[in-house]
Amino acid sequence: MWCPDLPIVTDRLVLRTFSLTDIESVWAYMRLPEVGQYMLWSARDREQSSEALDRMVAETGLEKDGDYLTLAVTVDGVVIGHAELGLVSAEHRQGEIGYVLHPEHQGRGYATEAGREMVRLGFTEMNMHRIIGRCSARNVSSANLLRRLGMRQEAHFVECRMVNGQWREELVFAMLQREWSGQNR
Ligand SMILES: CC(C)(COP(=O)(O)OP(=O)(O)OC[C@H]1O[C@@H](n2cnc3c(N)ncnc32)[C@H](O)[C@@H]1OP(=O)(O)O)[C@@H](O)C(=O)NCCC(=O)NCCS
Repeated sequence: MWCPDLPIVTDRLVLRTFSLTDIESVWAYMRLPEVGQYMLWSARDREQSSEALDRMVAETGLEKDGDYLTLAVTVDGVVIGHAELGLVSAEHRQGEIGYVLHPEHQGRGYATEAGREMVRLGFTEMNMHRIIGRCSARNVSSANLLRRLGMRQEAHFVECRMVNGQWREELVFAMLQREWSGQNR
């Protein structure tokens, strides 16, 4: 299994693995309807947040298709959200990133800073060929973030998924390793 050297320290963030003691900080953002509205889950109660944290604690590396590396995004020692890198296909070297921030910490570029690291890990350490980001077509903040990371929009799927009784439209953004290398010379 590939596990990155941690923690990862960026200009303003420290990215580290989760521990079960992070429950209060995780519940603080997972409980908010505005955080869950464009995810495949809606607001989570404490028990659901605790189950999600159990999974995130275990997501420490990538080995097989469907694995996730999930890191706590922290500022000055406080967990403000999480960022993830998924292994979509080992055979085809395809990955996917994801991110969630507490609303109090949005609007400062923290998710972009964390997302950039997840993309870097995927391309430089996992030698991925292509990394995607997906979001609801209504999730303007997420689409803007993926563009800020240098990704291209590849698709707009219409009514491709039923979430909470409503059809959802989904955007897919992507970046190839050579595109990333070109942007990060
Ligand atoms: C998606 C999500 C992480 C985006 O958060 P965000 O705060 O917009 O993203 P960033 O942290 O990168 O901040 C970017 C914003 O900060 C501003 N900003 C300020 N300083 C900045 C800096 N140093 N660098 C980059 N952007 C900066 C940008 O202009 C941008 O604001 P704008 O959208 O008004 O132009 C957030 O909306 C979220 O957690 N949503 C709920 C969960 C979710 O939907 N996740 C995605 C599922 S696909």
